[in-house]
Amino acid sequence: MEYQTIAVDKDAPICVVTINRPEKLNALNQQTITELNDVMETLAEDDSVRAIVLTGAGPKAFVAGADISEIAHLNGEAGKQFAEKGQQVFRFIEKMKKPVIAAINGFALGGGCELAMSCHLRIAATHAKLGQPEINLGIIPGYGGTQRLPRLIGLSNALYLLCTGEMISAEKAMELGLVSEVVEGEQLLERAKNLAHQLAEKAPLALHYILDAVYRGINVDLDTALDIEAECFGAVCDTEDMKEGTEAFLNKRKPVFKGR
Ligand code: COA
Repeated sequence: MEYQTIAVDKDAPICVVTINRPEKLNALNQQTITELNDVMETLAEDDSVRAIVLTGAGPKAFVAGADISEIAHLNGEAGKQFAEKGQQVFRFIEKMKKPVIAAINGFALGGGCELAMSCHLRIAATHAKLGQPEINLGIIPGYGGTQRLPRLIGLSNALYLLCTGEMISAEKAMELGLVSEVVEGEQLLERAKNLAHQLAEKAPLALHYILDAVYRGINVDLDTALDIEAECFGAVCDTEDMKEGTEAFLNKRKPVFKGR
């Protein structure tokens, strides 16, 4: 598939996916959502790619939200479908078996903040601004923001940001735990790619089971969550990479993981 709103730069074992509508600050229209879905489904199946960086084109924006010109025409039924479609794509990203890193290179607002939150790791440029300004449009977040924001930064801070629509700096986002790192804008992509390479060297199945245990466990009671962890620990003990990792340690050499 040829993409008009997304650029894909595969350099195995990593791949950089760029939302590419800089003239509209990379706002997510329906075409972008469809193309993003297709890119991610393709990368999920591509064993040569072990980590993904997601970013926005241009210096100004990661993603400035869902495309407001499309939202303006929605009625109740269409609005529900609109939210469900975006939610499905973002949930697919969150459930991917390989790590996805958001490199937040500017505005990450509304759907942009929600997209970043559906990624597993988030690094922001110093000039980035994050927020859920939907309230200022008379709407609410529909791509997971009301659910992922409180899970990431706690109820008090999430409710403040959701209800005021305030934008926060990268530094503040770091303080709240919304991003894990802040770097200068010109270093952002390089840093995100380095992190992707670092993760690409890890045992892919172990990474998958970490993501699986964390995301399944966070929504259930602790006893059920610990059962999930034990199940994932057992599964990873059946892998060749587990034998390789432990033997390499005992033989004082570097492990080579194969994803088996
Ligand atoms: N949907 C559609 N178009 C958008 C957009 C969005 N979410 N965000 C920005 N754009 C468009 C603008 O309409 C403008 O298009 P135009 O040049 O054809 O008029 C272009 O992108 C540049 O944006 P502009 O507003 O001129 O840039 P700015 O630097 O003055 O302001 C923002 C930047 C991010 C503060 C401002 O664009 C904004 O508030 N965007 C909407 C954020 C939002 O509410 N997101 C949640 C949506 S649910």
